[in-house]
Amino acid sequence: MQRIQRHRVRMAAVAALTIIATISWIATRTDAEHHEAKAPSLHEIMETMDDPFRSLRRQLKDPQKNEASLEVVRELQKKTLVAAGFNPSMMESVIEKKRPRFLLEYKRKMVALLNGLLDVEEALIFSDNAKAYEAYRKIGKVRREGHEQFQEEEEEEED
Ligand code: HEM
Repeated sequence: MQRIQRHRVRMAAVAALTIIATISWIATRTDAEHHEAKAPSLHEIMETMDDPFRSLRRQLKDPQKNEASLEVVRELQKKTLVAAGFNPSMMESVIEKKRPRFLLEYKRKMVALLNGLLDVEEALIFSDNAKAYEAYRKIGKVRREGHEQFQEEEEEEED
């Protein structure tokens, strides 16, 4: 009788462990998927910046659109701050000794981008469309340089 009881207890323990293991496996998986969905890559963030950035080219010349342009510019500023917190994929191919310097240069370029976007914002606040467009063109240069310096060859896009 006692043996049967011990056997039952053991079976129950095995069943309980199996259930716990299954639940935690599912939880880890869901967590990983959740995490992935919440954390886009630098590449993905940059891709979401592309259309808004291009749309400004024409829009900035039109004073009627200044409110809309300001929204786009502020959105790009936020994305720039997020992008600045990443390490470019290319960093892995840089030898370890040179990585701190590489990252520093990357961040400086991001600061240049943010400064440029702030210049566009300031000009728009003063309804100076010519100045806003001039600042925009400078950002185009920062973007080109950023890609030349920090984007891996096969990822390069046409400007
Ligand atoms: C408004 C300015 C910018 C826009 C609209 C933009 C847009 C893009 C786009 C569309 C891609 C993906 C390219 C592809 O699919 O081939 C990309 C990738 C990339 N961009 Fe930018 N970019 C901007 C500024 C910058 C700046 C200033 C830097 C450097 C400081 C930079 C660094 C990178 C890097 C490193 C990648 C590759 C992603 C990775 O390393 O995983 N970008 N960018």
